[in-house]
Amino acid sequence: MSYKKVAVVGAGAMGAGIAQVIVAASTEVVLMDISAEFVQGGMKRIEGRFASDVKKGKMSPEEKDRVMGLVSGSANHDDARDVDLVIEAIVEDRKVKGELFQSLNRVCPPETVFATNTSTLSVTDLAGLSGRANRFLGLHFFNPVHAMKLVEVIPGLDTERAVVDAATAAMKSIKKVPAVVQDCPGFLVNRILLSYMNEVFLAAEEGIAPGLIDGEAKKAGFPMGPLELSDMVGWDVSDHTFPILHGAYGERFPSLKLVGKLNSAGRLGLKTGGKGVYNNGEIDDEFRAMVAGLNSKGSGAPFSFDRLMLKQINEAVYCLQEGVATAEDIDRAMVLGTGFPNEAGVGGPLHWADAMGLDWVLSRLKALTETEGPRFWPHHLIKTYVAAGRLGKKAGRGFFAYQ
Ligand code: NAI
Repeated sequence: MSYKKVAVVGAGAMGAGIAQVIVAASTEVVLMDISAEFVQGGMKRIEGRFASDVKKGKMSPEEKDRVMGLVSGSANHDDARDVDLVIEAIVEDRKVKGELFQSLNRVCPPETVFATNTSTLSVTDLAGLSGRANRFLGLHFFNPVHAMKLVEVIPGLDTERAVVDAATAAMKSIKKVPAVVQDCPGFLVNRILLSYMNEVFLAAEEGIAPGLIDGEAKKAGFPMGPLELSDMVGWDVSDHTFPILHGAYGERFPSLKLVGKLNSAGRLGLKTGGKGVYNNGEIDDEFRAMVAGLNSKGSGAPFSFDRLMLKQINEAVYCLQEGVATAEDIDRAMVLGTGFPNEAGVGGPLHWADAMGLDWVLSRLKALTETEGPRFWPHHLIKTYVAAGRLGKKAGRGFFAYQ
């Protein structure tokens, strides 16, 4: 990797994972947190993962000792004085992150690049707080870091091109797949994934059975049902994130009632003993009563999984047209970051749309706009493609070209 030494700040779930993949690629890391105890916790996580690799025969005990020798721990910002790159993975709080970067800005040499692993804050805003906006970017890893290949590389408005290029190359050298993505709420993957989740939660509020929604998703090729996934991630995370997306994109991400209800009932999912939408795999009376109490009837149109798919297809087209990422990167990122169905190595929302036919996508979105409302209003780019005869795979040309 082009960086000789990296400081990873925040020794929690993400920070420990990020430190682990960097030392595994033979680059020195100083893992930092607010106290020696938290640093030790992170070091133990890393050691535990390498120990499990040794057990599985993926790594020799000597190799484990060598890579563990590359990571040191510290609770003192001065120990970041000789690093080329800082990756911040601390609590998701603008003020706390801003103070951290300001302190490190005083300690680190001017060439040191600062990166944030934030999921929901603006990279450009944090860059402004850091005091070195030209050498600041987002490096958004996915959980669990050792298993998830994708990293979103997010320049802020003032980030120098060379900083983006070097960080992109560095992600490749730690065996990740980087996708350069513009700074927007949700970035690329969460923005598209959560447009689907938002529609899933609306369907659940209307009383569509969670088992039906999750079953259809798995039938369509997703590795997990969206409600099972939400139980795993935690409804507190959804409660934090969806209002941010609603604030940014308005009625394409309508406000949700169920998320807050699950939270106030203490049904956060796995972290509350497996009680969320499901209660250890079953739908219980408390959940049924919660949904009935919402009295949300929806349009009354028969439920179809297309509704959930088309919601994310339309958002993917918004991302394409806004230049958030290229068509190739949108699809690659959705496959790697969310397990979007990927048959024979070709998948992702834009390939899916091409395979279904963009004329069909357009007419379904128009029909859903009639029944469900303007959040399904087809993006004008789809109309342009259809008018130009770029109907997708069957026409040899859609978002992608086909032989
Ligand atoms: P976590 O709660 O597991 O770890 C955060 C760590 O940061 C804790 O050890 C805490 O002591 C430390 N910390 C807090 N304030 C600090 C400070 N001022 N200086 C140094 N250390 C400090 O959190 P997690 O899940 O690892 O998330 C960290 C960041 O990564 C957040 O910004 C989150 O939004 C982002 N992220 C989380 C993902 C996830 O699935 N958990 C996925 C992608 C990004």
